This record gives sequence, structure tokens and C-alpha cells, in this order.
Amino acid sequence: MRKKIVAGNWKMNKNLQEGIALATELTEVVKNPNCDVIICTPFIHLASVAGIVKGSAIELGAENCADKASGAYTGEVSAEMVKSTGAAYVILGHSERREYYHETPEILKEKVQLALANGLKVIFCIGESLEEREAGKQNEVVKAELEGSVFNLSAEDFGKIILAYEPIWAIGTGKTATSDQAEEIHAYIRSIVAEKYGQEVADNTSILYGGSCKASNAPELFGKPDIDGGLIGGASLQVADFKGIIDAWN
Ligand code: PGA
Repeated sequence: MRKKIVAGNWKMNKNLQEGIALATELTEVVKNPNCDVIICTPFIHLASVAGIVKGSAIELGAENCADKASGAYTGEVSAEMVKSTGAAYVILGHSERREYYHETPEILKEKVQLALANGLKVIFCIGESLEEREAGKQNEVVKAELEGSVFNLSAEDFGKIILAYEPIWAIGTGKTATSDQAEEIHAYIRSIVAEKYGQEVADNTSILYGGSCKASNAPELFGKPDIDGGLIGGASLQVADFKGIIDAWN
């Protein structure tokens, strides 16, 4: 059966010392959680944080990786480099990367393949904008995002993908999708995974909700049958807030 997961996305927050302090505190308070707990940190934190979370209940991921394997790509960080730090996951397809850094479905497809080839598990983000939601196009949008970057994978490789549904209008805005709105589209996403890969793969795919998820709304969201956890931005930066969301699975 699919995993329950709470994953933090620190984004471009915390300098190295602050990141080390946050990771250290988290390892002290997160003991025997009822879900998998992942923190995704900036690249420069990875090697240090890997040493801190080793042997704890917390797993580590990056927030991005390059769409090229290696070579003359100044400033880029490859999937192999991410893996070599001890990280096990990478977030790909985040709407901030798609929008501000012009990551296209083709680029993301390359990134996903390189991440998987290097033994990383992928947290792949999909989700519609406010305009698309208002036009009733959310299902179309998430389907196209899956078809554009991950539905080319074999069923075995697709099994290493965690999906995160993040409506862009709910990210960092304090506006959460209602649990019914989220459940409706999570169920739709699972149905198209089933169409493509069969019911067993669909039943084993974790689909996380992201977008202003916090300790106060997590229990209701996580109570829905097709919501398998959360991808948490702002509320992953404070120990008590993040712990509160993890405890929603208790
Ligand atoms: P938020 O971000 O929790 O701050 O809304 C979620 C995300 O972008 O992953």
C-alpha cells in the first residue's frame, strides 16, 4: 500500500548554519512518526544535513537538479552530485521552477530521467493556476503535466515517483484548497495514473497536497482517501509547525 508522507520544501530560505540548526532540532523532535518524513533543502545544505539526519526518522532531498548529466554547465548541480551527498529524493516540476526558470515539460522529462537513473526518488509537482481553475481547466492541466514529463516512464520507474498536487493559487498565499476540492482532483489524478499504468500502480502512488498546508488544516486534508500527505513550504521552516503537520497522521 502507498506511503503516507510529509515532505518539507525549504525553498531559498535558511543559510547553512540556520539549516543545520533546523535539521538538528527536527531530528530531536521527530521520533517514530506515523509517516515518512522528508526535508528538501537548498543544494549547499545537503552534505551537512545528510550527516545530521543519518540514522534518524528523517530523509533528505534536493529541490532541483540539472537537466544534463555533467560537463560545462556553469552553476548547475547534477542528479549524480545530489545523490552523492546522501540525499534520496529530489523535487522536480515545482511551479516556481516552471514559472520563474522557464522549465518546460521537455526539460522536466530530462531531469526526471536523470534523477531516476542516479537512484533518486522524484517528488513531481503538478497544479493549475488561478485562471485555469476559474476556467475549470484544472484536470486538463494536471493531465498534460503528467503526460509531458512522467507518463513516458516504465511502470517500474513510475513507481519511484511521488506526485504532489499543488494548486499555484494556494502556494504561499494562505489560501488552501478545501479538502473536498483537493480530494476531487487527487482522485482524478489517481484515475489517470490507473488508466495509464493500471490500478495497482495507481493504488501504490503517493499523491501529496501542497499549498498553504499547516498543522491546523492538515488533519482534514490528510483525512481524505486520496490525499497521502503534504508538500510543505512555509510551515516546514519552523520545527513546531512542521511537527504539527507530521502529527496530523497520529
Ligand atoms: P507553501 O508552499 O506551503 O508555503 O504554500 C508549498 C510548496 O510550494 O511546496
